[in-house]
Amino acid sequence: MRNGHADQIARLIEPGRVHRSVYTDPDLFELELERIFSRAWLFVGHASQVPEPGDYITTELGRQPVIMCRHRDGSVQVLLNRCTHRGAKVVNERKGHASRLVCCYHGWAYDTDGRLVTVPVPEGCGEGFDKEAFGLARAPRVGEYRGFVFASLAAGGPSFEDHIGPMKGNIDDLVDRAPDGELALDAGMHRYVYNGNWKLQLENVLDSYHVPFGHASTVNKDGVQFARREGDSKGAAVIETKKKETAGSWRDRKSFIVGNGHGWTSNTTLDDGKRSSPAFDAYKRVLVDKVGAERANEILTPRLHNSLIYPNMSIMGLNIHVRVIKPIAVDRTEVTIYPIRLCGAPDAMNFGNIRLLNVTHSAASFVQTDDLESFVRAQKGLQSSLTDWVDISRGLGDEEPDRDLNATRGLATHEMVVRAQYKAWLGYMREAA
Ligand code: FES
Ligand SMILES: [Fe+2]
Repeated sequence: MRNGHADQIARLIEPGRVHRSVYTDPDLFELELERIFSRAWLFVGHASQVPEPGDYITTELGRQPVIMCRHRDGSVQVLLNRCTHRGAKVVNERKGHASRLVCCYHGWAYDTDGRLVTVPVPEGCGEGFDKEAFGLARAPRVGEYRGFVFASLAAGGPSFEDHIGPMKGNIDDLVDRAPDGELALDAGMHRYVYNGNWKLQLENVLDSYHVPFGHASTVNKDGVQFARREGDSKGAAVIETKKKETAGSWRDRKSFIVGNGHGWTSNTTLDDGKRSSPAFDAYKRVLVDKVGAERANEILTPRLHNSLIYPNMSIMGLNIHVRVIKPIAVDRTEVTIYPIRLCGAPDAMNFGNIRLLNVTHSAASFVQTDDLESFVRAQKGLQSSLTDWVDISRGLGDEEPDRDLNATRGLATHEMVVRAQYKAWLGYMREAA
């Protein structure tokens, strides 16, 4: 698939199935970088990662290196990490602090808003050399909602509001849990690379079907996580076979879609009385003090959690974290998982959440490692060319409107959210960039 004609691409997606080449064809992968990752709204980072002027992080949007930094005027800038002299990547570190961004090659120095400020040995520059014309390129469009920074590398296309709008409630759902109304992604990260296509991780984020099977070592047959007790002699977590009760079973859980490839699953109250611990009780007291008992109760009964914001991030509401999915090659993907600190919550509550995430989503964890294994096996299985189609038909035709949430609803063990992702995929992929 080299030139990606619209009708050729359209033949890869049918109502309940996807052609295997969308996971395995390197030419299609190149087209994805061009048609999705070079124009969609992508999550770049969170404002709390660059709290002070001069703070920066670096990442890639698709394959394009970018710097997200805080300028002196307080604004968050998304700059292309490419020297305007001879093209070197200007900032090499993943994060840091600098008053000037200085290229290692010939020392051109940029301000934190991308303006070129110093060119060494300036007498070598031609007469009409204009520093103003040599600033770092900026992402043409940047949008922010409650600290979540997104950028599009295309000047045109749907606005940030149109893209993110329906998912604002999901962001609110999580941010409101912080007594100070703010999150901080400042507790490090888990990062791993797996040998599989990027869409395998995307499809998995809201897949409730796999939970009791893919995670058989950590959940029981009803998809309920076993309770965990810490502190055997080595300080390792011990899995108890005692079932932790949660409201509603795995089979009844619902998924929702709202267009643009986005979706979420509903979940249970955080305050079911069985989760009570000194840390949680102290947190709840702080929250009630700030927002009142009634609102605290609403906040602790999130309706919109475990969200996927297509095409490169998710906000997980149970083991709270932000996940960023970065395609590297058709069969190679990087996943970064950021623990979330709820600003204003007692330290014990935040530490507890981060420790739980270490157990479920570190590189040596009980949960995420299961999924990575499934992705790698899917990628291997899909090398088989005697079966062309991947089935995503569970619950096809069973979707129903949810007027209350202004969304379309289905069972979370169905594949409605995956079909919605491919609808969005097709929308990007059919149109030449
Ligand atoms: S390539 Fe950056 S200063 Fe020359
Ligand atoms: Fe999983």
